[in-house]
Amino acid sequence: MSNYITEKIKEKNLNLTKKLIKIGKSLSLENDIKKVFKIILDEVMEVTNADRGMIYITSTDQKTLQYERVKCISDQMEMDSETASKRWQSIALFDELDEPIMNSLATFVFHTGFEAHFDDVYNQDYFLIGQIVAMDERDKYRSKSMVAVPLVDHEDHVLGIIELTNSIDESGEIVPFSEEHIEILLSVSSQAAITLSNKLLINNLEKMIFDFTQAIAYAIDMKSDKSYQHVQKVALLTNILAKKINTIEDGVYSNYKFTQDELDEIAISGWLHDLGKIATSNNLLNKNTKLQSSCDRIKFIQTKFELLEQVIFNQLLQKKTASEKNILNSILERLPGYMKLIISINQGSEFVSEEVLDLLTEISEIKVIARGKEYRLIDEDELENLMIRHGTLTVKEYDEIKKHAELTYKILSNITFPAKFQNVPKIASSHHERLNGTGYPLGLKEDDIPLQSRILAIADVFDALMSKRSYKSSYDLNKSLKILASMANNNEIDKDLMDIVLDKKIFVTFASEYNVEDFQDINIEEIKGIYRK
Ligand SMILES: [Fe+2]
Ligand SMILES: [Fe+2]
Repeated sequence: MSNYITEKIKEKNLNLTKKLIKIGKSLSLENDIKKVFKIILDEVMEVTNADRGMIYITSTDQKTLQYERVKCISDQMEMDSETASKRWQSIALFDELDEPIMNSLATFVFHTGFEAHFDDVYNQDYFLIGQIVAMDERDKYRSKSMVAVPLVDHEDHVLGIIELTNSIDESGEIVPFSEEHIEILLSVSSQAAITLSNKLLINNLEKMIFDFTQAIAYAIDMKSDKSYQHVQKVALLTNILAKKINTIEDGVYSNYKFTQDELDEIAISGWLHDLGKIATSNNLLNKNTKLQSSCDRIKFIQTKFELLEQVIFNQLLQKKTASEKNILNSILERLPGYMKLIISINQGSEFVSEEVLDLLTEISEIKVIARGKEYRLIDEDELENLMIRHGTLTVKEYDEIKKHAELTYKILSNITFPAKFQNVPKIASSHHERLNGTGYPLGLKEDDIPLQSRILAIADVFDALMSKRSYKSSYDLNKSLKILASMANNNEIDKDLMDIVLDKKIFVTFASEYNVEDFQDINIEEIKGIYRK
């Protein structure tokens, strides 16, 4: 062999290696699977001078080949899976008897895993070309030289097919795909299949993280009847606000743009923010009245009242002095009023005044003696619960519920998240932190609270206000926004985020989740005036 030819072969091989390295590099740098398909098709069409190229992907049930990407240079046409699937039907891989279809080029390549090519597809007897002819007629095209190679992964699964049509030479003529073209195509397809299979694996793992995260969130919502859908709503509102920040062009956060990975991290944090509630007792999460434990103990108090009434009636029948009878009658007269009061404050919906607290202490001192045993009309534990000033939880119980934020951190920090989601434990567990340091679990202040958690905090409070709770009915939008504004004024929540909620009308999107459609009573300037004086 002459030196000239040896040099030419060397040069050709070097070029080929360079091309393959270039393709491999661009494939490995791209994470978006759609863009990976685009790179594959663009590159193989370029190195083979193909006029038209298609990538088919095997459907999840392995029954059909679906169009993933189509490009035709002479028609100046390029389509992704969405547009292509509208134009062409997917290709069946099996017939009605579930037998492999072998008489079309793409299905043959799928079933055998072999490469196939023709100088002129119209002049061959191996495959039916009805579908190709129909497409050509419709597109006023003439398919001539064709090559199809499978995308085979490391486990020998055919992930899809690359099919190229009409290689064009320097003079613009359609020529057969050369051996070199087919060689390149085979190298690229095996490289592409490895990349694709890795990306699909990563995509599936990420999808599993999201699915699993949401399944846990549903489980937490199901634990608590009063906050049913709380987590789902908070995750949604958090997402809405985070995405809005990416679009604003004025204000403090105009330069802050979350990447897609950061948005995903916020979404996961939203779904997992109340994860710690998994360990909070159901009785506590569902404590609808002050006297509720496993049941509402108001019934026990009612029984004690009835018992006392009976005892007093009996005593009145016995010989008693007039003054003794007066005392008994006066207790008897007061009992219905006492019971009414206890039933009312048991709901926890109103703030309990000092006078009522004194009266409760007085009632608790009344004793009933039944069958020789002495009972207090309200025992110590019942009194402690009834004396809750607002809501239905004692300080001890509230502290117990507050532990969920710390526990969210402890559970999540035991999970090895992918690097891009490594802040999930901190973001999720800081949703009760307040800028002025009064929040929990760590009492973080200002910039120590991640922006993502501040967004989450607004979504969390908004949902708590707009939803019905045991101790309160749902507040209307105006009242909810005013409460959020006063929290901003106390430097509990972020004023600049509140500006976005109000100025960019995020509250309208939020409110649509609570079926609020009437915004007439919302005076943005008045609400902003609460914290921007
Ligand atoms: Fe929480
Ligand atoms: Fe929450």
